Amino acid sequence: MTPRPMTALNPFHTRNGVLHAESVALSDIATDFGTPCWVYSRQALEEALDDFQQELAGLDALVCYAVKANSNLAVLDVLARRGAGFDIVSAGELKRVLAAGADPQRIVFSGVGKTAAEMELALNTMELALNTGILCFNVESAPELERLNAVAGKLGKRAPISLRVNPDVDAGTHPYISTGLKENKFGVAYDEARALYRQAAALAHLEVSGIDCHIGSQLLDAAPFAEALDKLLVLVDQLAGDGIELQHIDLGGGLGIRYSDADVPTSVHAYLQPLLAKLKGRPLRILLEPGRRLVGNAGVLLTRVEYLKPGEVKNFAIVDAAMNDLSRPALYGSWHDIVPVAARAGDAAKWEIVGPICESGDFLGHGRELTLAEGDLLAILSAGAYGMVMSSNYNTRPRAAEVMVDGREAHLVRRRESAEELYALEQRLP
Ligand code: LLP
Repeated sequence: MTPRPMTALNPFHTRNGVLHAESVALSDIATDFGTPCWVYSRQALEEALDDFQQELAGLDALVCYAVKANSNLAVLDVLARRGAGFDIVSAGELKRVLAAGADPQRIVFSGVGKTAAEMELALNTMELALNTGILCFNVESAPELERLNAVAGKLGKRAPISLRVNPDVDAGTHPYISTGLKENKFGVAYDEARALYRQAAALAHLEVSGIDCHIGSQLLDAAPFAEALDKLLVLVDQLAGDGIELQHIDLGGGLGIRYSDADVPTSVHAYLQPLLAKLKGRPLRILLEPGRRLVGNAGVLLTRVEYLKPGEVKNFAIVDAAMNDLSRPALYGSWHDIVPVAARAGDAAKWEIVGPICESGDFLGHGRELTLAEGDLLAILSAGAYGMVMSSNYNTRPRAAEVMVDGREAHLVRRRESAEELYALEQRLP
């Protein structure tokens, strides 16, 4: 990896009064590709990955990007070219990363509900890739161990495994995205992990390779990660005493990003240094699974104001993006900054930024202080992670186009769906 030349400009910045992604005006993107439209910056993606790679330089470490955050092939390709591996959770994601040219030896497979068919596909990926195999299955339960052993046995293979251990630490994040507590469905209980490792080691078609955890998402504080690692290392030592030497430790993802001025995210340096200090001198390969931190601030959702509906109690700005595009506000009450692409003069008012969908939950932002006119373009910021991937076709709304900016060029990396495509798989009764 050659480090990017230092650029003074933030990938998203205002130039001549117009918001740009790198060197392309978002107003030009709206003209060329229409709205709503997701816009990603290659530079922002690369810089975010470089932040991790620089901290890990010289170490036996691999950043496995959590594909679920944004699985567009162009995003996967940009990250793969810079040395990222991938954390996948389904057969679909496996096919995607392979289509993007990923090396199977850089793929870990997470998820609580892997089907036998998915396991088989991942094990057969080994054949396609000259028997190198995926790097690891992150197993989350005793029955999954048994199933994987059976599937691997049937195929005459040995599956490399890690156990996702639930360290029972409080990530202090939104309850829907907190995953490391005892009450969560994820991982195996800390107290049961040692016995389960012994069981795994005795199964003929499994190869015990590592240990992993993922405690939650959008963590702004580094302390819970260190707490989780401490717990995992106690287990690593106990297992060594049992004759089970682990090859790697996977600390999951979860590092938060800035959504508003209220968020002060930990730097990648401040996140990793305490962890690396604890791992120093141990012969363990280090894996990480960041998702949001790599893509979240590398994307915006571009939308146009269709109607202004000032009211006695509230003013509504009805835009052409909706909860089917960006569901995070409706789903988690998440805040995304919303800014005009070109600021206009005049008195600001407080606007409810809402979409055209027939639900009161269809909002993108409440009470935003903006000066607006019909036809204005707005950018919904920090929308690169868990944006497009969580969009739906509710109200038979075709999913928006995705564009990636690379310097002066804007590339269409997923074309807008058509309404006809949305019902093409359906048929009327005979
Ligand atoms: N590894 C595992 C096993 C995960 O389950 C996740 C995310 C990650 C890594 C990546 O986490 P990140 O670095 O992105 O925080 N839809 C929610 C977020 C759900 C996260 C699920 N798991 C949102 O929009 O906030």
